[in-house]
Amino acid sequence: MSLRERLGLEHPIVGAGLGGGLSRADLTVAIAQAGGLGQLGLMPPQMLRAELAAHRARSSRPVALNLLLPFTRRAHWEVAREADAVLTFWGTPRRVTGGIWVHQCGSEDEARAAVDAGADGVIVQGVEAGGHVRGTTPGLELLERTQRALGAECPIWLAGGVAERGDVEVALAAGADAVVVGTRFLLSEESHAHPEYKRRLLGAPDTILTELFGAGWPARHRVVPNAATERWLRGDGTVPGWVRALHRATAPALSRMPVSMIQRAAHSQRPGTPLLGPAAATAGDPASLVDAGPLYAGQCVARIGDLRPAGALVRDLAGATADV
Ligand SMILES: Cc1cc2nc3c(=O)[nH]c(=O)nc-3n(C[C@H](O)[C@H](O)[C@H](O)COP(=O)(O)O)c2cc1C
Repeated sequence: MSLRERLGLEHPIVGAGLGGGLSRADLTVAIAQAGGLGQLGLMPPQMLRAELAAHRARSSRPVALNLLLPFTRRAHWEVAREADAVLTFWGTPRRVTGGIWVHQCGSEDEARAAVDAGADGVIVQGVEAGGHVRGTTPGLELLERTQRALGAECPIWLAGGVAERGDVEVALAAGADAVVVGTRFLLSEESHAHPEYKRRLLGAPDTILTELFGAGWPARHRVVPNAATERWLRGDGTVPGWVRALHRATAPALSRMPVSMIQRAAHSQRPGTPLLGPAAATAGDPASLVDAGPLYAGQCVARIGDLRPAGALVRDLAGATADV
């Protein structure tokens, strides 16, 4: 049975876990009610529990919880046990809950490790994806390689570059069980991104794959340019070596900070500070974070020109015409 069937999804459309408070119950409910699967992104455990309860209060349909492994604490796993599925990202894949578990991977080797660890399926992430980028090759290429490595039995979801119905059709025709959609749902009415963050993304012509916002999490991420990237990226787009060294040196201490503290620290971040962290601007954050923090977005941002209700997006992506 496909993962999609096990979860009882009407449509093969999964909203990405947009961490740090970008994807909350408003978004997961809208996606679920239209027949897709939403993910609550990583938040402080109490907030995560409250958002899960808010989803349950407003929808009887499934919801997934996304855990970024380097920042996941025991209290997060306790909340995760109550979700319908747990989707993990970054770090050694490991099963912690008894329910449906899917790990997002950037290579076929990582996908194999996840399956060996007991994953019910994998997400293959292409290099075109927004947010933190594990993939190094285009998503469709990785999908094919992972299918060859794991065989037809393993359900594979494709992440990266899915913004329109045609993208979904191509992914399903290539054998994906479902697609995972980040940037398109970030640009929905229900995502909790700061309004100015959304405005900057609409019509942004290009993205940069960088390590600039690497304080506490020195890893590659895809963003739209802002004052901080203008200030720090060299002519060839790379981050100065001493900034990367500073990130690496401070990572062991900073990555142990609770998510709530990482978010608070971001409020005092300025584009001119070299120690730039991974928290993105959510509604309610100071507008200064739009230029001092990461404007995560995938390459498909160039094809997105409007903010839309998430339910309508699910239906359009799925090629459905009426409410389910
Ligand atoms: C704003 C933003 C935040 C993200 N945060 C997370 C996260 O917390 N956990 C995660 O597994 N993936 C995260 N991702 C990556 C997505 O899971 C997914 O790989 C990506 O969005 C797919 O590419 P797309 O943006 O082109 O749809 C994020 C992506 C974006 C755009």
